[in-house]
Amino acid sequence: MTADNIDNLLHESRRFPPSDAFAAQAVATRDLYTQAGTTPAERQEFWGVQARDLLHWHKPFSRTLDWSNPPFATWFDDGELNVAYNCLDRHVIAGHGDRVALNWEGEPGDSRTFTYAELTAEVKRAANLLTALGIRQGDRVAIYLPLVPEAVIAMLAVARLGAVHTVIFGGFSAESIRDRVNDASAKLVITADGGYRKGRVFPLKPAVDAALAPDADGTSTTVRNVLVVKRGGNDVDWVEGRDLWWDEEIAQVDSEHIAKAFPAENPLFILYTSGTTGKPKGILHTSGGYLTQVAFTHKNVFDLKPEEDVYWSTADVGWITGHSYVVYGPLANGATQVIYEGTPDTPHPGRWWEIVQKHKVSILYAAPTAIRTFMKLGRQIPAEFDLSSLRLLGSVGEPINPEAWVWYRDVIGGGTTPVVDTWWQTETGAIMLSALPGVTTLKPGSAQVPIPGIAIDVVDEGFHSTGADQGGLLVVTEPWPSMLRGIWGDPDRFVETYWSKFGPSTYFAGDGARRDKDGDIWLLGRVDDVMNVSGHRLSTAEIESSLVSHPMVAEAAVVGASDETTGQAVVAFVITRASQADAAAADDAGAILRAHVAAQIGAIARPREVFIVTELPKTRSGKIMRRLLRDVAEGREVGDTTTLADTHVMSVISKTMR
Ligand code: WT7
Repeated sequence: MTADNIDNLLHESRRFPPSDAFAAQAVATRDLYTQAGTTPAERQEFWGVQARDLLHWHKPFSRTLDWSNPPFATWFDDGELNVAYNCLDRHVIAGHGDRVALNWEGEPGDSRTFTYAELTAEVKRAANLLTALGIRQGDRVAIYLPLVPEAVIAMLAVARLGAVHTVIFGGFSAESIRDRVNDASAKLVITADGGYRKGRVFPLKPAVDAALAPDADGTSTTVRNVLVVKRGGNDVDWVEGRDLWWDEEIAQVDSEHIAKAFPAENPLFILYTSGTTGKPKGILHTSGGYLTQVAFTHKNVFDLKPEEDVYWSTADVGWITGHSYVVYGPLANGATQVIYEGTPDTPHPGRWWEIVQKHKVSILYAAPTAIRTFMKLGRQIPAEFDLSSLRLLGSVGEPINPEAWVWYRDVIGGGTTPVVDTWWQTETGAIMLSALPGVTTLKPGSAQVPIPGIAIDVVDEGFHSTGADQGGLLVVTEPWPSMLRGIWGDPDRFVETYWSKFGPSTYFAGDGARRDKDGDIWLLGRVDDVMNVSGHRLSTAEIESSLVSHPMVAEAAVVGASDETTGQAVVAFVITRASQADAAAADDAGAILRAHVAAQIGAIARPREVFIVTELPKTRSGKIMRRLLRDVAEGREVGDTTTLADTHVMSVISKTMR
């Protein structure tokens, strides 16, 4: 975020107090803050109460938090539960088997509906199938699927067995799959022939085949089987003995399956996310604490009435939002929800609003980048649809600028719906900062306050709380139930990345923030070399290492430049090797390198621009000064260059770009 943005935010003064009508029916009340108390002990007790209220425990816990060895926490550790049972069976047992759990919309216009009873039966079958394939407690299963019901079913089936899923977003490349499958030592991959995207079938299985092919030196992955869901109908290669069709196998197994209880700290999933180095981190989440906080926040932040509401989070299950607020939170709460396979503009730019109208969606949770795209297209598109069922809107993934916030409320929410801006991360597992609708007076552009039970501060480099309206670093000062438990296989990196800046019991989030006079928090963007493109996290180092892996490239520097629609965009500066530079004209080189990054990491990482330069700005110690490159990429006057080893570099770069 630039100085201009911060300035704009300082002057944002619009306020939206809850309407009496909304407050009168709201699930969350001010009491929640009182109940959560003010001391660490009271907050722990509060989470204990929530865990008992919101979940079914096969074996009750007697302890809440164990923080005797920070930053390694356990929550409710002598309790036992089954996560899938909590999301499925118990709702059926409570008499809600006929309630719709999933209203799925395929991109080409097909749709499927699952009641809680039906979804439970499907997951039981899938659990039996996975058992038959040798999956046991603790085994890792990689899931690489489009957003079809089988993605949800597969995740829950893995959870039901006490095994660990690692969902890989369908836009990632073969190489990214291979890295993740290897890092997690997955036994099984669940994929599809293909899925629908932008009106076409997008093949998925070929990427899995390539990812699992033996290395040049003949080393194979740990994967024994690949289960393939039929979706795209595209032709696929087949490895006999390894590959199995999901539908054929599932038809042969029983639909009864008794869920066993697992310890609260049993690992639930690993989700890979980009950090400041080239290697993605496998963020580990466990069961009881995670499910408690996702259920609590889903209920209170989204004002959920499971009997009446139709909830729709537009996220893919390949991201944390899809884990916490498509699968685990909504299903633990017995919600009825919509899931949609495709892109917002297929086959027409009103597709989302058509879905809202069709299913009478009442709660919508989306990303600012989508809202800004709709803003550009104009209000006449949503105006063609009946959006009067909407009563609450949510935002996540990046700061939402006040104009987009107000447009969202006015044009999509009919000028009446609260908009909750929720700040959290893959690592936090669940929402940490948000307004509570019906309680909080809303401020467009601010993620507002810690949810009850969460302790957050904004501090300076010396770990002092910053004063009102002073910028600082966002930290979480007490452990929370859905916190990451580690980085898979790398405890040192876990400590070093999150718990070293301010000592082992303070979590450093990597975000800049400012607290205003009322105590509301405004997020100011990442303070590290992590970019946020369309609400997805990308690492500069990861893209740089992809660029330098191309024979044409001698050196590369990547920055996130602000972009009107996607928040940030990837911009690369590349020095080519002399011999190779002659071979490809600069224009071609840019196109080749953009395609190379997309193929290596995935389309989301493809640079918006690649500039071929002869120098990169470096300090005397050799560190690339990205700040200066960002100035160039954003078309600004280049800032202070006095710490450069060669102060002429920037004028050379600026000249190349003209
Ligand atoms: C980073 C986490 C949380 C699920 C989606 C992204 C940024 C997230 C907000 C928000 C300002 C936000 C932060 C954070 N971020 N939500 N409401 N306001 N910034 O998860 O990929 O783990 O990325 O997204 O920079 O650190 P993620």
